[in-house]
Amino acid sequence: MKLLITCTSLILAALSAGQALAQPPAQPAATSPASAYPVPPAPGLYQALGERQGIRLLMDDFARGLRADPRIGTQFADTNLDNLAQSLTEQVCQLAGGPCTYQGPDMRTAHEGMDITRADFNALVEVLQNSMDARGIPFGRQNQLLSLLAPMHRDVITVR
Ligand code: HEM
Repeated sequence: MKLLITCTSLILAALSAGQALAQPPAQPAATSPASAYPVPPAPGLYQALGERQGIRLLMDDFARGLRADPRIGTQFADTNLDNLAQSLTEQVCQLAGGPCTYQGPDMRTAHEGMDITRADFNALVEVLQNSMDARGIPFGRQNQLLSLLAPMHRDVITVR
């Protein structure tokens, strides 16, 4: 638990500083929206997340957790959770190095006009951590996925 809190603090600290935790890009940014963040996945991350099926189960739980969260749940009140989980699955699968192609909108467009704050973003990260805990994903792997998502705060947070 202490380790998780430490890791979480590190990630949130990086977000606060407006920096990604990720290493410098090893390859140029691709042009599709899902890979607009040029961060290479840690080797084996896709497999550690349970491949496409495991990621889908994780995202189903995550989507339900978002709706149930007292801090940000209202923002997902009218959301089709199945569609959201599907979209997130493709995105995370691709980011983690899996054989998927996210074809949804880029993150700025997807969250336009939603008035998302840093606190909202941090709450979402916590909900995802809870879902990863529930699926037994090791802390180190959790943080590898969160590192891939962290750079997106620039496009998702619209209220500063
Ligand atoms: C790294 C952080 C985030 C990622 C990777 C992410 C990813 C996504 C994706 C892939 C979609 C679906 C786009 C589509 O297919 O149309 C989406 C939609 C959405 N996101 Fe996020 N998101 C993030 C943060 C947030 C935060 C912090 C909030 C608010 C607390 C939020 C609220 C929403 C809402 C309300 C939708 C629309 C769902 C609907 O169609 O009703 N997102 N997000």
